[in-house]
Amino acid sequence: MVRPGQQWWRDAVIYQIYPRSWADSDGDGIGDLPGITQRLPHLTYLGVDAVWLSPFYTSPQRDGGYDVADYRDVDPLFGTLADFDALTARAHELGLRVIVDIVPNHSSSDHPWFQAALASPPGSPERARYLFRDGSDGGRLPPNNWTSMFGGPAWTRITEADGSPGQWYLHMFDRSQPDFDWTNPEVRDELEDVLRFWLDRGVDGFRIDVAHGLVKYENLPDTDLTLDANVDATALAPMWDQPGVHEIYRSWRRLADSYAIEGQDADRILCAEAWVLPGPALAQYVRADELHQSFNFEYLMTPWLTADQRAAITDSLAQADAVGAPQTWVLSNHDVVRHATRLGYPQRPGLQRIEGIGADDPQPDAALGLRRARAATAVMLALPGSAYLFQGEELGLPEATQLPDEARQDPTFARTDGKSKGRDGCRVPIPWEGDAPSYGFGPGGRSWLPQPPEYADLAVDRQRDVPGSTLELYRQLLALRRKHRLGRGRLVWLDDQPHDVLAFRVESDEGAVTVLANPGGSPLPLPAGAQILARTGTPGTAGQVDPDETVWLNG
Ligand code: NOJ
Repeated sequence: MVRPGQQWWRDAVIYQIYPRSWADSDGDGIGDLPGITQRLPHLTYLGVDAVWLSPFYTSPQRDGGYDVADYRDVDPLFGTLADFDALTARAHELGLRVIVDIVPNHSSSDHPWFQAALASPPGSPERARYLFRDGSDGGRLPPNNWTSMFGGPAWTRITEADGSPGQWYLHMFDRSQPDFDWTNPEVRDELEDVLRFWLDRGVDGFRIDVAHGLVKYENLPDTDLTLDANVDATALAPMWDQPGVHEIYRSWRRLADSYAIEGQDADRILCAEAWVLPGPALAQYVRADELHQSFNFEYLMTPWLTADQRAAITDSLAQADAVGAPQTWVLSNHDVVRHATRLGYPQRPGLQRIEGIGADDPQPDAALGLRRARAATAVMLALPGSAYLFQGEELGLPEATQLPDEARQDPTFARTDGKSKGRDGCRVPIPWEGDAPSYGFGPGGRSWLPQPPEYADLAVDRQRDVPGSTLELYRQLLALRRKHRLGRGRLVWLDDQPHDVLAFRVESDEGAVTVLANPGGSPLPLPAGAQILARTGTPGTAGQVDPDETVWLNG
């Protein structure tokens, strides 16, 4: 249990819920807040500290809610503000903190501000909240050469109120997600006010969407600048990781800190979703007066290879240490192929990010993927710092790789003409009951994305209390992690093991655990007298750590 004054977030395990896909209370095939509230006991059973909810705000849902039309309300699809309050109250009763998403880089094009901008002339204060510019070549072409993260140009031309072809606006994502202009104080004030709105409702923190994108390089230059000593390095990626973002986060930190209560372990936290490499640049976001955490995507993209894992862990810890922050660890989320599937492909040195998978693509080795996923998770949950879990990974869910194209909803799929399959495969609704329609996702038997048949055997009710199941493995690892306070521990590499094994000990005030992980191909004999606390193989061979297995030993 978290102790008073302990800065709970330093070693918290935080479980991500993608509200569309966790639990559906009204049978419309889309998850909702009352559904989440009903199922919260699953999280106490699992043994996590907090829940992070992806967006549930009013939204046309063109990017799964990361296109917000009203930052201060709940979309009717998910419920009401009263449902949110009930969820928060219940979570707190159960000892779970609640983190919500904030989307400050862009709003939905349905947001009243954007609608007002469209109805107002160029140069008006309404336009100045977004990044409207005149096009080049007499207005015909986009103002610069930036491309959207979802494919296609990052600019869309509007029709002015009088019907004439007009200015262009910037959207680093879908055209329905116009980027705000963060040089405008009105934008800063508004987003801080939104933070206050949710803090006042009792949330324990925020996950900040596209945290590295808010500030753009002055005058929005093309990205293909020739490398030349006179060019500021930040101008080479003029839309990402600009120094100005840090001042915004210092201000947000002051705001969050103003909600902390002296003598109580009640910090309200801020976690950056910032795809920033290399690690030392990312660590700038978690300096003492900025954010509490940032996701460690470098770790997520690290292959299951001993040398790569060891380097990623060592570097990550050093980078966080250098600024006095805890490191965070994550293997899956709603934007990437689930790790039980990623690891079912051949592993190659270097960072890896796998594109969405379709039925015509090479398919993973599912059994190998799950085996490695369990082993990789057992490495992650031993590491000092805080860990993020994505819904369903505790069941060993694989990516849905056979979704029919007609079912796909990720805007990436349409914007790339289907070349990129997109992220729907990791967002398929959770199976709760193996024998029920929609595997117990909701009462109506509907599910907004089709669930693969193999989800039946992975349903919560088929794994609960079943020794060796992935759900019970997660529970066991989480309980041991808590008991030995591994999240607050210190990692020491053990160099007396063969070089293709990851061997380390995590020592804390409450004891020590030795972790032997075997990404290599040959079995590793266990030390004589080793006392096994947990192992990821099912059942695992006596006296050895099998290939693609991780074992936790006492001491
Ligand atoms: C990152 C979110 O995780 C992703 O789902 C979303 O599409 C983009 N940001 C744009 O908001």
